[in-house]
Amino acid sequence: MLKLGIIGTNWITQQFVSAAEETKSFALTEVYSRTESKAKDFADKFQADDVKLTTNLDDFFTIDKFDAVYIASPNSLHFAQAKQALEQGKNVIVEKPSTSNIHELTVLQETAKANGKFLIEAARHIHEPIFQQIQSYVADNRQDLSGATLSYMKYSSRYDDYLAGKNPNVFTTKFSGGALYDLGVYAVYDAVVLFGEPKTVNYQAEVLASGVDGSGSLTLKYPYFDVNIIIGKTKNSFMPSEIYFGKKTLLMDSAGDITKLEESSADKNIAPIKTTKSDNPMDSEAVEFARIIEQNDQEKYQQLSRYARIVNRILEHARASAGIVFEADKDK
Ligand SMILES: NC(=O)c1ccc[n+]([C@@H]2O[C@H](COP(=O)([O-])OP(=O)(O)OC[C@H]3O[C@@H](n4cnc5c(N)ncnc54)[C@H](OP(=O)(O)O)[C@@H]3O)[C@@H](O)[C@H]2O)c1
Repeated sequence: MLKLGIIGTNWITQQFVSAAEETKSFALTEVYSRTESKAKDFADKFQADDVKLTTNLDDFFTIDKFDAVYIASPNSLHFAQAKQALEQGKNVIVEKPSTSNIHELTVLQETAKANGKFLIEAARHIHEPIFQQIQSYVADNRQDLSGATLSYMKYSSRYDDYLAGKNPNVFTTKFSGGALYDLGVYAVYDAVVLFGEPKTVNYQAEVLASGVDGSGSLTLKYPYFDVNIIIGKTKNSFMPSEIYFGKKTLLMDSAGDITKLEESSADKNIAPIKTTKSDNPMDSEAVEFARIIEQNDQEKYQQLSRYARIVNRILEHARASAGIVFEADKDK
């Protein structure tokens, strides 16, 4: 049983801990929050009496022995928190995007290696059975692969807060926010896992007054085709995502929250593809992360680490092409 600590007490952490406990491989034993009442409220949701609560990050890592920490704080805080965790001998599962730039990711991956621990970026959707169906479909039809359009554009309730002048974390350069880092990362993962590393990256962004991108259009150029990615947090899109194979097309209902697949045949008839989907989209990653840690699966770990490096490199190049600078870049 892996003892699990958590940093960040928003709904996403609840969802992860529910999935983690469901695996029976993780047990929540430590909660860090900036406020005591939030730490207590969080622990109460999981009815685990012996959970240690703390508002001091140094104490969090030393108060008791635990095996892994799940970090779901604002993006720019991941680096320092993950580094401290690795140095204290914890395995780290960190929410996407794991870092603000590739320099930070390199430091974290080296720190993980030096301490003999895992650093896993939680790109939940690539571990889901439905994504593995897409991978198989692409592998079976690779000879006809001719590009993709991936779309993930959802109006964020936090955009209302932004418009009201409340400066929510996800719309600030201080916390490495914006559409690309929040939602684009899913579509970039799709492209990297399915097609590999692109030759060039170009991002045309609608940059908000706060300095982050509210929406934008990202082009990844591969030797023989392009992947066009449309992302946004300031408007809603109902466009499907599509992967092209000449006359045939694979349709997905989203680039990041994929629940439905369809196939358009050469005669343009669209037919559903049978899929399975768990109620909690974090179930599959929780099972996989526990397995990697428990079985010390270095081969899978190296593959995930390589994906994380390519994805974070693309995000940084895309940001550079759109002139988006994070406060964290100053520490490079
Ligand atoms: N995989 C997914 O499906 C998914 C979905 C949503 C978000 N995410 C990722 O999860 C991470 C958190 O996103 P979020 O939207 O939950 O972020 P958030 O609401 O801005 O913050 C998350 C938590 O971090 C702590 N926090 C907030 N502001 C902070 C500050 N100024 N200083 C220190 N700690 C602070 C808070 O916990 P305390 O008050 O308890 O300290 C808060 O509950 C991001 O990396 C995001 O990309 C992933």
